[in-house]
Amino acid sequence: MHHFFYKNEELYCENIPLKKLAAEVGTPCYVYSHSTLQHHFNVFDGAFANVSHLTCYSVKANSNLSILRLFGSMGGGVDIVSGGELFRARKAGIPPERIVYSGVGKTVEEIDFALKEGILMFNIESTEELDAINSRAGILGCRARIALRVNPDVDPKTHPYISTGMKKSKFGIDVESALQAYEQAKNLDNIEILGVDCHIGSQLTEISPFVDALKRLRLLLDRLDAMGVSIRYLDLGGGLGIPYDQEAPPHPTDYAQAILQELKGLSCTLIFEPGRVIVGNAGILLTRVLYTKKTESKNFVIVDAGMNDLIRPSLYGSYHQIQPLQRKSTETQIVDVVGPICESGDFLARDRTLPVVASGDHLAVMSAGAYGFTMSSNYNSRPRAAEVLVKGDRYYIIRQRETWEDMVRLEEVAEFSQD
Ligand code: LLP
Repeated sequence: MHHFFYKNEELYCENIPLKKLAAEVGTPCYVYSHSTLQHHFNVFDGAFANVSHLTCYSVKANSNLSILRLFGSMGGGVDIVSGGELFRARKAGIPPERIVYSGVGKTVEEIDFALKEGILMFNIESTEELDAINSRAGILGCRARIALRVNPDVDPKTHPYISTGMKKSKFGIDVESALQAYEQAKNLDNIEILGVDCHIGSQLTEISPFVDALKRLRLLLDRLDAMGVSIRYLDLGGGLGIPYDQEAPPHPTDYAQAILQELKGLSCTLIFEPGRVIVGNAGILLTRVLYTKKTESKNFVIVDAGMNDLIRPSLYGSYHQIQPLQRKSTETQIVDVVGPICESGDFLARDRTLPVVASGDHLAVMSAGAYGFTMSSNYNSRPRAAEVLVKGDRYYIIRQRETWEDMVRLEEVAEFSQD
């Protein structure tokens, strides 16, 4: 469910015609719907209303301060993976006791920052990291609260680049080694064991991998109990998918039901780290047609958004629906929608049937709220797009379009000495 819809053949976000927005803010531009963000957060969080839980929105999906602030105001916490994300979360007012910190490569500076802020827990991914965090906590005179990220070795049946819970992946610690690591953690002076963590992948469209992982985690929890390790938090990560095309991922309430069924009799507080399922369909990328071009083998629609703005189609071959802002033609054409970047991999859609469009028309690339802006870059020295949040009949620019000057701000022309 989202609040992008046609009225009189014109595409709206909530009460704003997107054509008006494109004219006023320019393109390319990310547009998010406040009602959709709120609704998705409530549906996910509400699905666990009857059990003790914390929804820690995964900042990497969309890290704009206004969006973090919104979820924080709704009682949400966050899952972070870097000092930069912690900085954002704190700036947006997320209380430290609602922050969990994942990721395989935390640096000393990042660990210190998180310890000083007093976050809820580190999700630790290796025994070397455990030692490092113990030692930094000792130096700073505090105790680090931790969970170990367990790799349950299940196949999430998603794109290999976003599968994280299989043996061959760099993430987490396998079950047997995790037991040893918990034993080690028990004896560390500056470590307080709080939980068990697991995240198996992203854009999962079936429930069974989640359930398989949980079954393995339950066995681990029993063994930890027998070892005298008490676990207060069970962090089940994120990963629930959204419909981009024809997929039919489970609804959050079905996901919750399956999980709660599996966890009967357990008294931990549950933590979830959803990203995409909350923001994915709450955002679009607005773009303008620059030119159309017909070659012997293809019809190209060349738009002003490229792989630097939305890399998912190029990187994963992902499908994003594309819709015109103004529906005027019923005539269709098979086209490649491509950006201005000097790479053949720069496309938003390939061999797509679209209504016939012309230079100056606008298109909406749908379901771009997650891993859209956050994965954008300045490649080809293209300023990053503006971000706009629509609420009812008002809109707010929540990130200005970058300027050329912004792009070179940190650069210096080296003055070489003459000798
Ligand atoms: N927790 C951890 C530890 C994660 O690594 C991730 C995502 C999440 C939570 C949130 O997962 P979600 O609920 O959004 O599926 N760039 C890719 C997705 C990468 C996901 C990385 N980790 C894409 O555009 O599809």
